[in-house]
This record gives sequence, C-alpha cells and structure tokens, in this order.
Amino acid sequence: MNGGYTVRKNIVVLSGSPRKGGNTDMLCVAFTIGAENAGNSVTLFRTADMKIGGCLGCGHCFKEKGICIQKDDMPPVLDALRKADALVLASPIYYWSVTAQLKLAIDRMYPLISVKAMIKRVGMLLTCGNKNSDVNEGAVFMLNRLCRAYGWENAGIVTAAGLHNIGEIAGREELEEAAMLGGKM
Ligand SMILES: Cc1cc2nc3c(=O)[nH]c(=O)nc-3n(C[C@H](O)[C@H](O)[C@H](O)COP(=O)(O)O)c2cc1C
Repeated sequence: MNGGYTVRKNIVVLSGSPRKGGNTDMLCVAFTIGAENAGNSVTLFRTADMKIGGCLGCGHCFKEKGICIQKDDMPPVLDALRKADALVLASPIYYWSVTAQLKLAIDRMYPLISVKAMIKRVGMLLTCGNKNSDVNEGAVFMLNRLCRAYGWENAGIVTAAGLHNIGEIAGREELEEAAMLGGKM
C-alpha cells in the first residue's frame, strides 16, 4: 500500500524452459498467482516457443534509439520490458547455466542499455536436477551482474533442486516461495 492505494506493478517473466507443464512452468504459475493476488500484472514469455535470434553485435540499437535490426519475436518483448517495473528470469539449469533459449533473449536485451527500461527490481526462478543447488551459481552470478550493470535490485531467487521428471515439483515449498516472491515484487 502507498498512501491508501495499491501500486500495481507490471512484471515481465522471461522463461527459458522448453518443457511445457514442467517444473519451471509450475514455478512460473505459482509466481504469477502470487503476483496477481497482490494486484500486480504479469506478462510471461516462453522464450523456447519463440523465434529469437542471437544478438548480432552490430551496434544498430545504439545508433538507432534502441531499435534492434532483427525482425523476429524479440521486439514485442523489448516493448514489454520498457513498460515493466520488474523482470523475472525463470529457467531450468542446463549445464550450470540458464537454457540457451533464455540466454538468447537476455543477449537481445542489449538495446536496453542505450534506451533504458524503467525496471527497478528483478527476481529469478530456477529448477535443477542436482540435489545440491550450487549448480545454480552461474545463473545467480549472471543475475547479480545484470543488477549491477542495469542498476536493478535483486528482489529474490527461488531455487528448487533435485527435480528430474515433469511435474515433480508439485507439493514442494518452493512453489509457495515463488508465490511470495510474486507478492513482494
Ligand atoms: C540438457 C539438460 C541439461 C541439464 N543440465 C543440468 C545441470 O547442469 N545441472 C542440474 O542440476 N540439472 C540439469 N538438468 C536437469 C534440469 O535442470 C531439471 O530436471 C529441471 O527441473 C528441468 O526443468 P523443467 O521441468 O522446467 O524442464 C539438465 C536437463 C537437461 C534436459
């Protein structure tokens, strides 16, 4: 609450899991329910279902007011990011990092350096097979460096470890943690 009214936040979730209905999807659903119950609005992009090319490093976005030269599925994501108050990166860990599908979208956020977004806070939702969640260190390192580069505040990271099969996260406390993160973005 702020002066007696609720401030509705626009949250963009970029999810990198290719597996529909998988553990990462379920974390995203829990996050979204928590966020919407708190009066926020959530726009989720499943990057694995989208046509997103790798950044060409051409510098076009620096010369042309943040416009990317590639006409694929990324420009609407950039539009949404420019209107967002908060960003959440969600991914299963693939080889100690986020999935390639999510990393493509992250690299394509390069235009946000020249024409800034109004994002203030970020969060992360991660799932991994290993029981020891130190396999997430690469992804967490990247998030913290993104925060430093863009001046974002890290609002929280939810990590669900030891997951292999689709839907295995059902009943786990990390779903509640994701909902709580959604509420406090
Ligand atoms: C290609 C591939 C690479 C993976 N690499 C790792 C890894 O390095 N560390 C780990 O703990 N789990 C790894 N996993 C397991 C997934 O992170 C884990 O099962 C996750 O919960 C899957 O999420 P999903 O249900 O959203 O697909 C990998 C899975 C796949 C398919």
